[in-house]
Amino acid sequence: MRVYTGVLTGLTLLLLSPLSYGAEGAKSLYTNRCQGCHGPDGKGSPTMAKALQATIPNLTTKEMGKKPDKELLEALSKGKGKMPPQSGLSDKELKDLIVYVRDLSKGK
Ligand code: HEC
Repeated sequence: MRVYTGVLTGLTLLLLSPLSYGAEGAKSLYTNRCQGCHGPDGKGSPTMAKALQATIPNLTTKEMGKKPDKELLEALSKGKGKMPPQSGLSDKELKDLIVYVRDLSKGK
């Protein structure tokens, strides 16, 4: 019985996890548009940082997780420093990307 309850709890957590929401779409957006600079795991590509002569922030840190949505949204839509503005994304896509970036910094 205890094992059974454990499995149920695990399943519930999985279903409630934000990852189950739009994760696929956001993941492919991230892969196509962001990974080149930010790396597959969000820690930043040293090669791109060198090429851009910029510091690419680690998106997986707790500090990044604490930044308000508004700030991340602004960086995405208007660009920030050497990061170009991400044009042609719908509001929903931008929101999904922010959820995705938040997930990168989870549990750190
Ligand atoms: C051409 C390289 C490049 C691409 C492509 C790129 N970024 Fe960035 N990104 C940067 C750099 C450089 C910074 C640091 C900007 C600064 O603070 O000067 C940054 C900063 C950020 C930040 C931190 C913003 C803040 O307020 O501190 C977030 C979040 C972010 N990028 C997410 C993304 C996402 C999501 C995508 C894809 C839609 C993306 N980036 C695409 C280079 C890039």
